[in-house]
Amino acid sequence: MKDKIIRIAILIVIIALVIGLIVFANIYRVDREKKQNEETKVEETSDETEEKENVIDISNKKILIAYFSLSGNTEMLANIIKENVIGDIYKIETVNTYPEDYTELTEIAKKEKEENARPKLKNKLENIADYDTIILGYPIWWGTMPMSVYTFIEQYDLNGKTIIPFCTHEGSMLGSTQEDIKNKLASSTIIEGLAIKGNEVQQEGTKDTVKKWLSGLKEFKEEE
Ligand SMILES: Cc1cc2nc3c(=O)[nH]c(=O)nc-3n(C[C@H](O)[C@H](O)[C@H](O)COP(=O)(O)O)c2cc1C
Repeated sequence: MKDKIIRIAILIVIIALVIGLIVFANIYRVDREKKQNEETKVEETSDETEEKENVIDISNKKILIAYFSLSGNTEMLANIIKENVIGDIYKIETVNTYPEDYTELTEIAKKEKEENARPKLKNKLENIADYDTIILGYPIWWGTMPMSVYTFIEQYDLNGKTIIPFCTHEGSMLGSTQEDIKNKLASSTIIEGLAIKGNEVQQEGTKDTVKKWLSGLKEFKEEE
């Protein structure tokens, strides 16, 4: 009888120990999961902050990225810039479309340049006065900007604004555009622009080049 009582007592102690262990293991697991979640949250938040820090946001400067692009290279570059700048984006488009055939296109573009034409623009920009800084993009056509970009510069009052040019090209770099813009906008500040070869826009390194160029512009640095 005594033996039986001792065996039952041992059994109860063993059961109590097992239950205790299970409860302890569960508390430990829940606690660990909670801690891990908190760590992940902190990581996510710091990533977001990092991304925000890399984006140019000078709240006292309102930025417009305005670009013309026919075969897409300059558009792609404009979008990379947009990823790094807090501002609006606007595509300069003409009423008359250009031919798809490259030779025909070059001939028309040459004629437009020779005639100092001002192709009519399609989409009206209502609020140009709101912007202090225009990041102006275009492909190089015959050493300068497409004439539609001249229309844009003349149609909207860009005097007194900061103009930051960027272009895509096949060897001419910025061509004469830095000077051409200066000649048109004597009272604006024209910043040294960025030139990327059309077939290199898609290369991974271009994103870094754009970031470096933007962050090196003193216009985007906080005033001391
Ligand atoms: C009509 C025309 C004229 C061009 N003239 C030049 C030029 O003088 N110098 C140059 O480096 N590239 C020249 N190019 C090449 C373009 O600048 C280049 O392909 C550019 O990346 C095209 O940009 P998009 O895709 O945004 O239209 C010319 C292209 C065209 C269609």
